Amino acid sequence: MSTNKTALVLGASGLVGNELVKTLIQRNQYNKIHLLIRRPIENFESPVCEQFIADFDKLEAYSELFQVTDVFCCLGTTIKKAKSKEVFRKVDFEYPLEAAKLALKGGAEKFLIVSAMGADSKSRFFYNQVKGDVEKSLKTLNLRSLHIFRPSLLLGKRKEFRFGEKLAAKASGLLNKVMVGPLRPYKAIEAKKVALAMAITAESGKNVMNTYPSHEIERIANQK
Ligand SMILES: NC(=O)c1ccc[n+]([C@@H]2O[C@H](COP(=O)([O-])OP(=O)(O)OC[C@H]3O[C@@H](n4cnc5c(N)ncnc54)[C@H](OP(=O)(O)O)[C@@H]3O)[C@@H](O)[C@H]2O)c1
Repeated sequence: MSTNKTALVLGASGLVGNELVKTLIQRNQYNKIHLLIRRPIENFESPVCEQFIADFDKLEAYSELFQVTDVFCCLGTTIKKAKSKEVFRKVDFEYPLEAAKLALKGGAEKFLIVSAMGADSKSRFFYNQVKGDVEKSLKTLNLRSLHIFRPSLLLGKRKEFRFGEKLAAKASGLLNKVMVGPLRPYKAIEAKKVALAMAITAESGKNVMNTYPSHEIERIANQK
């Protein structure tokens, strides 16, 4: 262990979150990684990882867990899973914002979050609007360092079946080859690469506010 840094990951059971935890363990930069989840997950078999089961409506009750060096937020849902716009907004807006406030209070150096390509609070699409809203609110918090990752379509093995994403991933297999020049930001991206780019960014000494479009995430990940 080369540092005495600690981390908290929200959304460790998800596609990006799971890859992120594996990446953080492998890169060995943290001597403690808190996983804040709503139900127990498969053990990562690392002595540095510890799972904490939380009621996300009462995040403040877990404020001690936010007293870490870096907080990674990989939370998110879909309208289909959430079943209502209200619940979707809770997971994609309220929880990340509350997490960022607790990170600030806890003295975290960096807050890193997975948003999405097209995030725009003025968008007429609800999903993009919520992502835009959360980005905008996070920027007002005066966090010491905020890193927003905006991936395009995520590629990777999911436990659940998502028909639309599966179809889009199939199409992207063909399309990605022609996604060059101005089309680069639209290229689908492996969840693994998003995770790696987050880990690399956290390791870098840069304490800044930055937003990374999908092709920039890819570039960071490719530098390893
Ligand atoms: N899918 C795409 O192609 C795509 C593209 C661009 C950006 N994004 C964004 O990237 C981020 C990560 O995506 P992903 O595909 O890795 O997400 P994911 O696999 O759906 O995982 C989402 C995580 O959020 C947690 N979560 C969901 N609802 C929750 C709730 N009510 N309370 C507590 N935790 C809850 C999940 O926990 P459980 O396992 O307990 O449900 C899981 O850990 C999301 O913000 C997503 O919007 C996705």
